[in-house]
Amino acid sequence: MAVERSSWKIKHEATLSELVQLMGLSADEAAMLKALQSEAQRQAPAMREDFYRRLLAHPQTAEYFSDVNMNHMHEMLQNWFVELFCGVYDEAYARRRMKIGDTHVRIGLPVRYPLAMLDVAMAHAEAVARTHAQPDAATTAVRKVLALDVAVFNQAYEDRQIQALAEMVGNERLARRLLSGES
Ligand code: HEM
Repeated sequence: MAVERSSWKIKHEATLSELVQLMGLSADEAAMLKALQSEAQRQAPAMREDFYRRLLAHPQTAEYFSDVNMNHMHEMLQNWFVELFCGVYDEAYARRRMKIGDTHVRIGLPVRYPLAMLDVAMAHAEAVARTHAQPDAATTAVRKVLALDVAVFNQAYEDRQIQALAEMVGNERLARRLLSGES
């Protein structure tokens, strides 16, 4: 890994604007999502029910909720879902979504669990999109914002690993080399 990659210099909130560009999320698509926000509000309780039914039925994931206020969790998850349809995917949005990723890093949650749960969110987000007058275009748009969320969520885990390793070995470049498997 001799070369330096320009992607390594994109950090924090800038990762979201970079991804919006990569995915080609357009202003029309953002407006389409915003128009669906009240439908998302209606759909959110059903999404939350499916989400926690699955997590609480599985011992390894249920144990994360043993001393957690579930009413608060329900509210936070529903807000997360409705905010997917906020229509403004700027730096403030990026900060809010990155903070959610950080929270899960902090509680020691293996990343496979939130990633696996995205199919529940996807099914409900697509149900919302199908109520739009242009259901195919709305579905494409909603898939993009969910993909953005997956990417930002994952990035929180990678950032933490790079940061911890860079602190140990003295610099980020060496940390990246070690994580790539090249010593
Ligand atoms: C699609 C996947 C997921 C989404 C969208 C999601 C969403 C959220 C949100 C929005 C919060 C509030 C975070 C904050 O305000 O900083 C939160 C907190 C939390 N989540 Fe998740 N979550 C996901 C997956 C999971 C999974 C799989 C688990 C456990 C198995 C989990 C356990 C928790 C716990 C325990 C908290 C409270 C953490 C604390 O404040 O101490 N989450 N989640």
